[in-house]
Amino acid sequence: MNTLFTRDPLVAAAFVRDAQLAAFPTETVYGLGADARNECAVRRIFEAKERPPDNPLIIHLAAGVPLTEVAAEMPEAARLLHERFMPGPLTLIMPRRENITAMVSSGLPTVGVRVPNHPVAQSFLKACGTPVAAPSANRSGRPSPTTWQAVSSDLAGRIACILQGEDAQIGLESTVVDCTVNPPLILRPGAITLEAIHNVIPEVRIDDASNDAAKKSPGMRHRHYAPRARVVVVDSADSSGLAAESSRRAGYIGLQRPQAPEAFALIEICSSLEMYARRLFDFFRRCDEAGIDVIYCQKAPLAGLGRALMDRLGRASEV
Ligand code: TXA
Ligand code: MG
Repeated sequence: MNTLFTRDPLVAAAFVRDAQLAAFPTETVYGLGADARNECAVRRIFEAKERPPDNPLIIHLAAGVPLTEVAAEMPEAARLLHERFMPGPLTLIMPRRENITAMVSSGLPTVGVRVPNHPVAQSFLKACGTPVAAPSANRSGRPSPTTWQAVSSDLAGRIACILQGEDAQIGLESTVVDCTVNPPLILRPGAITLEAIHNVIPEVRIDDASNDAAKKSPGMRHRHYAPRARVVVVDSADSSGLAAESSRRAGYIGLQRPQAPEAFALIEICSSLEMYARRLFDFFRRCDEAGIDVIYCQKAPLAGLGRALMDRLGRASEV
């Protein structure tokens, strides 16, 4: 298949209206969009990504479209979170309306809904004129794409269109909150932090991957965000020694400079947690291109955005 590259949201949206796939930028990561009301189009997403069919997709809406376009009802928690944080990097799990094909939700009676806070994404979604099912625009198992070049390297030749935009501002996927349970449960931490949600819904709970709730978000069962290289989470002080011991090519990303920077073939020092989040997946991809075998990632504090970062590092380092 010939992939068309464009900077025009209207051109990309025409493919979605024609039941084809178009990748598009958002503030979190790039998405791979299809008409959520068209089962053939949705099936194409699973094929292009080689995504396991038991991993449900998030539906994206233009700002101002009522969430009840795709949700059968809005639980009170969803109402509060929608009001406070949308548009933004947040996905709400709600009961699914029957106009949305069950394939979007991998057969679950629920649906994930997100309204991106990104001007190009919004122009694109408006022009699509239909709810857009969109997972991250990577091959299944690879790090999520934060640049159109990363989308291209995973999916060019497999999808109809890539809408080229800026690099993603946040760099980690949206916070996912299950609003069908009481109290609501954070299934995936993101840039809308536990602390921020707690201010709106004091009872909110967070899933840690070790408990049962992990099964609620089927996608969280699969290995994620992983570069080909092995990922090792370290305190910065340890990292240089580890790299020096190893004869392999090593990379390092973190907030502080390691003791022996010369031991690393690729190194990225981030001046803030926000920058660490923004750069992480792109660094993974650059390490793979450079033939690096092991990537040392400095621990982040388990609070605020650090919780999302540590979640992704934990998943990437699982063997
Ligand atoms: O920031 C984001 O959310 C990006 C951009 C493109 O919007 N999208 C994204 O989609 O990260 P994806 O498919 O890579 O991750 C969706 C996550 C998966 O962990 C999936 O299991 C979960 O959301 N999910 C989707 N629908 C669900 C549902 N009905 N119940 C529980 N979990 C659901
Ligand atoms: Mg994904």
